[in-house]
Amino acid sequence: MTFATRALTPRIGTEIIASKETLLAGGHSQEIRDLLEQRGVLLFHKLGMTDEEQVEFAKTLGQVIPQGEKGIYKITLDTRLNDTAHYLKGTPYWHIDGVQDDVPTRASLLTARVLSKVGGQTEFANTYAAYDDLPEDEKRAYEKLRVVHTQKMIQSKVNLHPSKEELEAWDRTFAPKTHPLVWTHQSGRKSLVVGIHAASVEGMDEAEGRILIDRLQAWSTQPQFVYRHEWTVGDMIIWDNTGVMHRVEPYPADSGRLLSRTTLVGEEALA
Ligand code: OGA
Ligand code: MN
Repeated sequence: MTFATRALTPRIGTEIIASKETLLAGGHSQEIRDLLEQRGVLLFHKLGMTDEEQVEFAKTLGQVIPQGEKGIYKITLDTRLNDTAHYLKGTPYWHIDGVQDDVPTRASLLTARVLSKVGGQTEFANTYAAYDDLPEDEKRAYEKLRVVHTQKMIQSKVNLHPSKEELEAWDRTFAPKTHPLVWTHQSGRKSLVVGIHAASVEGMDEAEGRILIDRLQAWSTQPQFVYRHEWTVGDMIIWDNTGVMHRVEPYPADSGRLLSRTTLVGEEALA
C-alpha cells in the first residue's frame, strides 16, 4: 500500500501518490488532513475515483455537506446539469467558497470528468504564505482591520446591469458579512482573507479601503504563492478552503466542462 508525496511548488501544493484502495481504507486520513492544512492543495493525479468513491473518501476526511446529488455537486456552466450554474459564473475571480458564512467550508474535493478545449485550468493561492511573507509593520497594521464581503462584488462582475430585484436577491441570499482581514486559526497560524467578494474595510474611507484590498489581493496572488493545475480527466484536487483562494481560467459555457465536487463541513469560525 504505497503512499508517497511530492511537493508541486515550494509554497503550495503536494501530490499524493496512492491507489484508490489505499485512500478509501482511511488509514492515512489524519496524515492527509495535516498535509492539506500545511500545503493548501493536494493533487491525486489520474486517480479516477467514481462519484460514489469520492464521497466515501471525503467521509474519511470530515463531514460531507449534502449538496447536489448524494454529496456530488456538478461544477458546470450548463444549466441543464446544474440549476444553480449561474452562481459559478463568478468562479474566474479569486475567491474563498462560502466566505459569507461564519464557518466557511473546510475543504472541497474536485474530480475532473470533462475538460474544456480552451481555458478551465484552476489556480490556487496560499493565503497563509501570503500573510507570513508580509513585512512585520504591515502585519501589525492589519491586526484589527475588518473587511466586508458581499455577493454583489462577485455577481456584478458577471452581471453588468443587474435589475433592482437581482441586487436585492444577492444580498438576501448571501447577506454581507464582516470578517477580520487576518484569520487567526485555532492552530495559531494566520492567513489573509481577501478575494473578489471583499468590498470595503470597516471604518476606512471607501477609496482607501479599496486600494488596500486591491493591493493585498495582488500580493496574495503572486506567482510564488500560486499553484496552477492543468487538468487531466480523472485528476482529483483537494483544497483547504480556510487557507487558500482559488479561481478558474474562463471557459465557454457550452464547453462541456464538468467536474464533480464534494465539500466538507467547516470546522472553525473565521475569527
Ligand atoms: C468551485 C470552484 C473552480 C473550477 O468548485 O468552488 O471555484 O475549476 N471551481 O471550476
Ligand atoms: Mn469556488
